[in-house]
Amino acid sequence: MTVLVTGGAGFIGSNFVLDRLARSSETVVNLDNLTYAGNLDNLASLQGNPGHVFVHGDLCDRPLLDRLFAQHRPRAVIHFAAESHVDRSIHGPEDFIQTNIVGTFRLLEAARAHWDGLDARQKADFRFLHVSTDEVYGTLTPQDPPFAETNPHLPNSPYSASKAASDHLVRAWHHTYGLPVLTTNCSNNYGPYQFPEKLIPLVIVNALAGKPLPIYGDGLQVRDWLYVGDHCQAIERVLEAGTPGETYNIGGWNEMSNLRIVATICGLLDELRPRASGGGYADQITYVADRPGHDRRYAIDARKIQRELGWTPAETFETGIRKTVAWYLQHPEWVARIQQGGYRDWIQRHYGEASAGEASA
Ligand code: NAD
Ligand code: DAU
Repeated sequence: MTVLVTGGAGFIGSNFVLDRLARSSETVVNLDNLTYAGNLDNLASLQGNPGHVFVHGDLCDRPLLDRLFAQHRPRAVIHFAAESHVDRSIHGPEDFIQTNIVGTFRLLEAARAHWDGLDARQKADFRFLHVSTDEVYGTLTPQDPPFAETNPHLPNSPYSASKAASDHLVRAWHHTYGLPVLTTNCSNNYGPYQFPEKLIPLVIVNALAGKPLPIYGDGLQVRDWLYVGDHCQAIERVLEAGTPGETYNIGGWNEMSNLRIVATICGLLDELRPRASGGGYADQITYVADRPGHDRRYAIDARKIQRELGWTPAETFETGIRKTVAWYLQHPEWVARIQQGGYRDWIQRHYGEASAGEASA
């Protein structure tokens, strides 16, 4: 049995692939075009593992998708690949439209063509799981209840608009063609292998380098935070037991302001790696201009996935953030290679210059 994962060299995708291969004997075909956010270093421990087939290619390449479905005949697709960073979407939305909307469309069409050719039993068992975000629901005031699956989509950034569009495509492919789709809308993830442009790894990396810790606006924006391993387990649960056509919110019941997040990280670093120059890491906090259109608050009502599928997070924020800070302290070479762009040399050493090649990573 085989599953097709897209974006499995990114932050959440690589955590998912590593977890899955540690627990299951199913082959993972991992399609990723290795944008700046895709990093084969994350998957280095899978080198020589025949259960992992890495394919360096683009989601928008329909002939490649058709070849992958024909050759590997996956029983499920888990679709992580996306442009994922809100700030980048503000400065350059084009790639977000291309990958998140056009790419999802191409993948849906390739999956549908494959699914159409299956027998009745295989058709019923096939799953297309679309990994999405709570940002599609827009923003909350402090008085609003958390986002429920029934909330309307009111996206505010080019990133969230592109993800909302992809959610709608996935929904339509179920309603119109009957493709057995599942959609998950998750809150902010953190943990190992997160690219240091996102708040938590950026603050850890900048703090250790003696650089400013940038806080957008007043720093009182609120997000719900979930440890990445818990997100991966929730996705597994939805894949196993979710009802086709349904959406499931995933969250950690961990609403926190950005300032509190940054202060927590500074406190952990003060304990685990005190500053050589004395003083606390919080001295490096710097208020900077706010993100345009910055959503004030996200919060997730995760009762449906708990009630219907029995999933709850295993980590609290305190345990998860401690593990995360420790991971970054233990992996300075991972950060350094990203900062130097050095992991691209690693790709060339292992795969040569070929772009749409296939290899067991
Ligand atoms: P990421 O940016 O770390 O990784 C994205 C991966 O997709 C990279 O490996 C990249 O190379 C690959 N990719 C991008 N464009 C591609 C294309 N055209 N073809 C093939 N591969 C391509 O992202 P992430 O944080 O791991 O997020 C994964 C998914 O989860 C995204 O769909 C995102 O919207 C969603 N999500 C993320 C969070 C979060 O907090 N990070 C929360 C909820 C949902
Ligand atoms: O809610 C889920 C989403 O969470 C995912 O869909 C996105 O892919 C993921 O990037 C994340 O989006 P955010 O915009 O919430 O994450 P980010 O880490 O960029 O920012 C978190 C908060 O911290 C946000 O309010 C902006 C703020 N921030 C961020 C950075 C990078 C700062 O104050 N300073 C910073 O330098």
